[in-house]
Amino acid sequence: MADKLIIFDTTLRDGEQSPGASMTKDEKLRIAKQLERLKVDVIEAGFAAASPGDFESIKAISATIKDSIICSLSRANDRDISRAAEALAAAQRKRIHTFIATSPLHMEKKLRMSPDQVLEQAIQAVRFARNFTDDVEFSPEDGSRSEMDFLCRVIEAVIKEGATTINFADTVGYGVPELYGNMLKTLRERIPNSDKAIWSVHCHNDLGMAVANSLAGVMIGGARQVECTINGLGERAGNTALEEIVMAVRTRKDYFNLDLGIDTTQIVPASKLVSQITGFAVQPNKAVVGANAFAHASGIHQDGILKARDTYEIMRAEDVGWSANKIVLGKLSGRNAFKQRLEELGIALESEAEVNAAFARFKELADRKSDIFDEDILALVSDEEQAN
Ligand code: KIV
Ligand code: ZN
Repeated sequence: MADKLIIFDTTLRDGEQSPGASMTKDEKLRIAKQLERLKVDVIEAGFAAASPGDFESIKAISATIKDSIICSLSRANDRDISRAAEALAAAQRKRIHTFIATSPLHMEKKLRMSPDQVLEQAIQAVRFARNFTDDVEFSPEDGSRSEMDFLCRVIEAVIKEGATTINFADTVGYGVPELYGNMLKTLRERIPNSDKAIWSVHCHNDLGMAVANSLAGVMIGGARQVECTINGLGERAGNTALEEIVMAVRTRKDYFNLDLGIDTTQIVPASKLVSQITGFAVQPNKAVVGANAFAHASGIHQDGILKARDTYEIMRAEDVGWSANKIVLGKLSGRNAFKQRLEELGIALESEAEVNAAFARFKELADRKSDIFDEDILALVSDEEQAN
């Protein structure tokens, strides 16, 4: 039987860390409802101690959402953890996600703490969080720039304290797929109690490799949870894009052999909602959710698609929530695509000679005008009819 891959969505927490993407409580609630329709396993609803607004949003989401686990982030201290627990109180299933930096750079320059102090604080945090829930996630922040021996000590200790998920954070997007995946693999091999926790990946996109690193963490490192956001929203260059992870794992099930609980038809509605609420446009060529992701412009491709969709489509537009794929008529289009559009518009030209004449006029127009709309075709054909 295939393992399940847990989808942990952090659009409402890490996604909101995108400069300019802050959301109100009502907006967060709308997105949380859409994430529930999408059937994500875990919704990281915010960072309870960060602001009263975040606290209230987590509280509202906890009281409303029934099907997903609701999670709050918290630093590794009692105050943050208590605040997270309070905000999550009404959730049917709740998770506290606590973190502390483990890289030499962060410990020395940011935390100004010794490794032993960090270790002790991580242990205390997980122990304290377990008073509120038995679902506790621990992240070594800047994990991918941390020393392996120290990481092993910290992770072994927090698993002993009851951490149930270990999230190997590539906080600054420094990872390279093979190296990141192998680091995770080594950690799981070296830590004696590693099989007592689910391993997770959390990758940032500073070098454009968040999705690739996450998938390497899954395939090489054995992670079974991916942290991601809708449209790849997130701090700086963003996080791993949920839609890309989900569709890669689903489309290449032959390779990944993992099950997902996601309703993929809710992906495009989720993408549009997040884009509309944050005001962050989705680039047209963005995988899966970009306006051009299922649009075919070249004549050869259009001809192939009209004969068999698999020729140039590895996924169905309808499976991710688009109403259909698109044949975009323009100067590269061929006669077959043009003829098909005439049929769709209910235009029946009497002879092949008429089709050829209309097609020649269409090509002339397409050389002058980059976007050809249905109205242009209707006008062009009516000119043709008048000329006859
Ligand atoms: O990028 C990061 O390290 C984080 C942690 C809080 C998991 O977002
Ligand atoms: Zn992050």
